[in-house]
Amino acid sequence: MARIVAGIGSSHVPAIGAAIDNGKTEEPYWKRVFSGFVKSQEWMRELKPDVAIIVYNDHASAFSVEMIPTFALGCAVEFPPADEGWGPRPVPVVQGHPALASHIAQSVILDEFDLTICNKMEVDHGMTVPMNLLFGKVDKDAHWPCPVVPLAVNVVMYPPPTGHRCFMLGRAIRKAVESYPEDLKVVIFGTGGLSHQISGPRAGLINSKWDKSFLDNLSKDPQKLVKIPHIDYMREAGAEGIEMVMWLVMRGALDDKADEIYRFYTVPASNTAVGHIILANRPRGAAKKAATKSKRPAVKHKRAAARVKSAVRRSKR
Ligand SMILES: [Fe+2]
Repeated sequence: MARIVAGIGSSHVPAIGAAIDNGKTEEPYWKRVFSGFVKSQEWMRELKPDVAIIVYNDHASAFSVEMIPTFALGCAVEFPPADEGWGPRPVPVVQGHPALASHIAQSVILDEFDLTICNKMEVDHGMTVPMNLLFGKVDKDAHWPCPVVPLAVNVVMYPPPTGHRCFMLGRAIRKAVESYPEDLKVVIFGTGGLSHQISGPRAGLINSKWDKSFLDNLSKDPQKLVKIPHIDYMREAGAEGIEMVMWLVMRGALDDKADEIYRFYTVPASNTAVGHIILANRPRGAAKKAATKSKRPAVKHKRAAARVKSAVRRSKR
């Protein structure tokens, strides 16, 4: 059976991609940002996931105002990097996992979440920047370490889905993954945010207090977050802060109790707060049973040894 083992939250600021592509990661401004992902990359190298489900939003690259799917699932064999106005990023083409993606589509749609199925789609910085942050810089002619199932969420044009809808979609994705017969280690990314506003009189808005409280609740009490209405994201985290609802798809796909194993937060990168968190599911079923089983015989053995000892003592009296 496939299983989601961990969830990753990460901002997807386009300027981070430009810093990687233009060799600026060692400059003091950017080093501060990239230093927060060094441990995460080590963790990811050690984990070696078989597949990553990446929840992100398209920034008018694959879609436009002419066509706005609320949830779009990438079922293609591959996803080329999109030209976002200055040429495609020099990163490898992202390999898909059509079998798992189609299984997720069937399971989730039959569970009454209406997804748009994309059999051809380009992907922009919303997806490739978090991939770089977690997998490191990968040469254009090389391969990303694992295939990806992209899930694009509309957070660009009103109305975006609610946080609750995103969380429940995460739940449905978890059910889908767990009914996939192949033994796959799956990670899920929620990307975007944190607080930022890129235009209008409040351009440049960053609200660290809000961001940190969001990360705290994501880790310990996600039910508090699913109730937040859109207007609160807009007011507190800026117009583009609404991207944070995508982190709730990731959180919904994890178990209720997940362990926070890493967190990083810094401001700013470009005009955005950068947030990052790794949440790991606890071992289930087999691992727990094995732990209990291995303890029982030891206890039994100790008790039996004590009984033998006292019998020997009695026989000597
Ligand atoms: Fe974005």
